[in-house]
Amino acid sequence: MSKPHSLRLSVSVALLLGAIALPAQSQQADGAKLFSQQCAACHSIVAGAPPGLGPNLHGVLGRPAGQIKGFAYSAEFKKALAKKNWTPELLDKWLEDPQNVAAGTYMMYQQPDATVRAAIIDYLKTVK
Ligand code: HEC
Repeated sequence: MSKPHSLRLSVSVALLLGAIALPAQSQQADGAKLFSQQCAACHSIVAGAPPGLGPNLHGVLGRPAGQIKGFAYSAEFKKALAKKNWTPELLDKWLEDPQNVAAGTYMMYQQPDATVRAAIIDYLKTVK
């Protein structure tokens, strides 16, 4: 009777150690994972890859909005974001609610959690 119990105990100790070891590098890992869960269905992050439902996001931070050749941006997006560059601040507003930045945009997504947005933005800074 004591065997299954001690097995269970060592499994939970291992999980606990894993949880303690994680935070040091979790920010970036989380961002990459969050991107693949929440953005990758519509956006490629691979340099030169063709657009999907949304434009390619490789190197998006710092680049002017709406510049991916071969992607048909909505008229609303082009109007609202003309001559704007993707800064972390603008991207944060965009991810919170794209409709607030460009009412009528095709991007159907909202992220009310600032921590999640920050992790994704930190990840995007590394992809250039
Ligand atoms: C359901 C599909 C979908 C999802 C999910 C989605 N997007 Fe989009 N995204 C779009 C579309 C469509 C556009 C183009 C909007 C337009 O033309 O109105 C866009 C545009 C953008 C742009 C503008 C790029 C440029 O070339 O100026 C950024 C930045 C962006 N998305 C980031 C993200 C990020 C980061 C995520 C995940 C947190 C995400 N999107 C999730 C569909 C999506």
